[in-house]
Amino acid sequence: MEETLKIGIAGTGRMGSAIATRLLARGHSVTVWNRTPHKAQALVASGASLATAPKELAAEADVTLTVLTDAAAIEATYRGAHGLLSADVGGKLFIEMSTVRPEVENALASMVVAKGAALVECPVGGTVGPAKEGKLFGFVGGDTADVERARPLLDDLCRRVEHVGPVGAGASVKLAINLPLLVYYQALGEALSLCRSVNIEPARLIDIFSDSSGGPNMLKVRGPAIAAAMQGKETTPVTFDVDLIRKDLRTMLDEASALGVGLPLTAQTLERYDEAARNGLGKSDATMLPAYWLHHGRPQDRVTPRP
Ligand SMILES: NC(=O)c1ccc[n+]([C@@H]2O[C@H](COP(=O)([O-])OP(=O)(O)OC[C@H]3O[C@@H](n4cnc5c(N)ncnc54)[C@H](OP(=O)(O)O)[C@@H]3O)[C@@H](O)[C@H]2O)c1
Repeated sequence: MEETLKIGIAGTGRMGSAIATRLLARGHSVTVWNRTPHKAQALVASGASLATAPKELAAEADVTLTVLTDAAAIEATYRGAHGLLSADVGGKLFIEMSTVRPEVENALASMVVAKGAALVECPVGGTVGPAKEGKLFGFVGGDTADVERARPLLDDLCRRVEHVGPVGAGASVKLAINLPLLVYYQALGEALSLCRSVNIEPARLIDIFSDSSGGPNMLKVRGPAIAAAMQGKETTPVTFDVDLIRKDLRTMLDEASALGVGLPLTAQTLERYDEAARNGLGKSDATMLPAYWLHHGRPQDRVTPRP
């Protein structure tokens, strides 16, 4: 895509803002819209234009990216009063990047196509830092011709773009990718609680996990924040909060139920994080979860070992 392409971004939360920052740095012309306009002000100061409604954004842009919380946010932004699809969008391209169920992307794609436009889904792996650096992992679903149209832009955002099938396939893969990671945060909390009597600095203990089969790739990047949390330090800035994790886990469980498969570990993990949220952790970063379990894991959750 040429640099003169006009890009619209609806949803300037943490990820949408990071993606907009990246595209501005790459020299693109970017217009943004956010339900709560003041959250887009930093982007305006960095050179983005501000649309007053999704309809205005879609009318202005050649390609519109949406990075929104969930299915309800997608519904409101695309189909609400002055929504994206109330503009004349014939021939335009939408790239939907939220983490939602495949059926949400499929239903949306049908509505977009009915308006004469095209939709590619690209939920992403990676958080705010990788988004700012163009190092996300894009799980793309869509028709091949549409994906090729989107690819130069996706290449600006992602270190790797995988076209995994038609619309819906990207959402399935993204939900699957997040599952072991989100269960891992709880597993790490439980593992650390086995080391309560081991007198090692948290940073060293986390480094041991990170350098062994006890740690996934995430720990190499987020390990220092987890170790700091073990010493009572709040992780800032928040990049992936516990409420968003709970939304992802609920989405996985809904999808599994529709597919007729069981996710018992996922269900138990959600129970633990619901409890963490009830205890005030909802808006805290994911890296606070292992320390939460280490310090607050309750006796009634202990299972009596078998002889
Ligand atoms: N954070 C991560 O590390 C990460 C990584 C990969 C994927 N994701 C996925 O990316 C998506 C966005 O995540 P995020 O971290 O950027 O979340 P966030 O900071 O909470 O931002 C959410 C965005 O959705 C908007 N929104 C929510 N409900 C809405 C509604 N009813 N109508 C219109 N807009 C609405 C918010 O607008 P307001 O500002 O007005 O509330 C905001 O722009 C989610 O699907 C998440 O699962 C996140």
